[in-house]
Amino acid sequence: MQKVKKAIIPAAGLGTRFLPATKAMPKEMLPIIDKPTIQYIVEEAVESGIEDIIIVTGKGKRAIEDHFDHAFELESNLEMKGKLKLLEEVQRTSKVDIHYIRQKEPKGLGHAVWCARRFIGQEPFAVLLGDDIVRAETPCLKQMITQYEAVSSAILGVQPVPDGETGRYGIVAPASQNGRLYEVAGLVEKPPAGQAPSNLAILGRYILPPEIFGILDSQEEGSGGEIQLTDAIARLALEQQVYAYNFQGTRYDVGEKLGFILTTLDFAVANPELRGATLKAIQELLVKEGAAPEIFLRDLRARDVSDWSSRSTG
Ligand code: G1P
Repeated sequence: MQKVKKAIIPAAGLGTRFLPATKAMPKEMLPIIDKPTIQYIVEEAVESGIEDIIIVTGKGKRAIEDHFDHAFELESNLEMKGKLKLLEEVQRTSKVDIHYIRQKEPKGLGHAVWCARRFIGQEPFAVLLGDDIVRAETPCLKQMITQYEAVSSAILGVQPVPDGETGRYGIVAPASQNGRLYEVAGLVEKPPAGQAPSNLAILGRYILPPEIFGILDSQEEGSGGEIQLTDAIARLALEQQVYAYNFQGTRYDVGEKLGFILTTLDFAVANPELRGATLKAIQELLVKEGAAPEIFLRDLRARDVSDWSSRSTG
């Protein structure tokens, strides 16, 4: 069995949901606290044992290349000022070997993956989507590679989503289940309401065999007029076994505004330096907006709330 050593990170999307912020800056560079979202993805790949990463970029994505390159001026400045912890953080991003290729036309995820075919060659490989950050004890991709090593077949990272949200994802039709692993009978990209075969959604992590490129060669446009990776995997499933793995961990949707805000809040609360002040600010905001639960207000009234009320009305 060949090991999974290479990963594709598609990053050629236009980022229209975050305009005008993404007019001159790639959406993958939007930070959660102090790290661009794409760095979380690259770190997951590296922690999962990936040795070579190819980022499929588009127009105006130079900032991504600069981010993962050396920044001599900045580094010597930090060194001179003795800011060694920051220096180490900055240097960490330039230690990974990353390759870049341009997707010349915005033809969809399937096409972006196909653009990296020469880099991958005849090996199994991973795909990680930048809109999905996963926080887990064992990195999500590592969990999937462990599964791959047991079954030597394509694995899709899935989690159940609420019924009302299935139309936003590629959805798996499971045939049989063994713990967290499902045999996949079929797949559908963004099914219309009421037509989803299950609520198991593909959440931005894939391990695929090289045969997918031959399928993508002739893949026609699907949902949204784009060449869909999900459609190509559905054809792959007719030729060989495809599995879905319900990975462990919390998945964050940083591809849309509310998801982005909630991710930032969650990461702030998990950050020892920011936790206390963030929780306090949330409490104050709830009181100010009259949205605090009664039980919480009762607790506040029991203490001295003069400080709260003066701030919330001020
Ligand atoms: C893409 C995939 C979809 C997957 C989703 C996960 O959709 O096409 O199958 O479920 O990512 O985030 P997008 O969000 O790019 O429209």
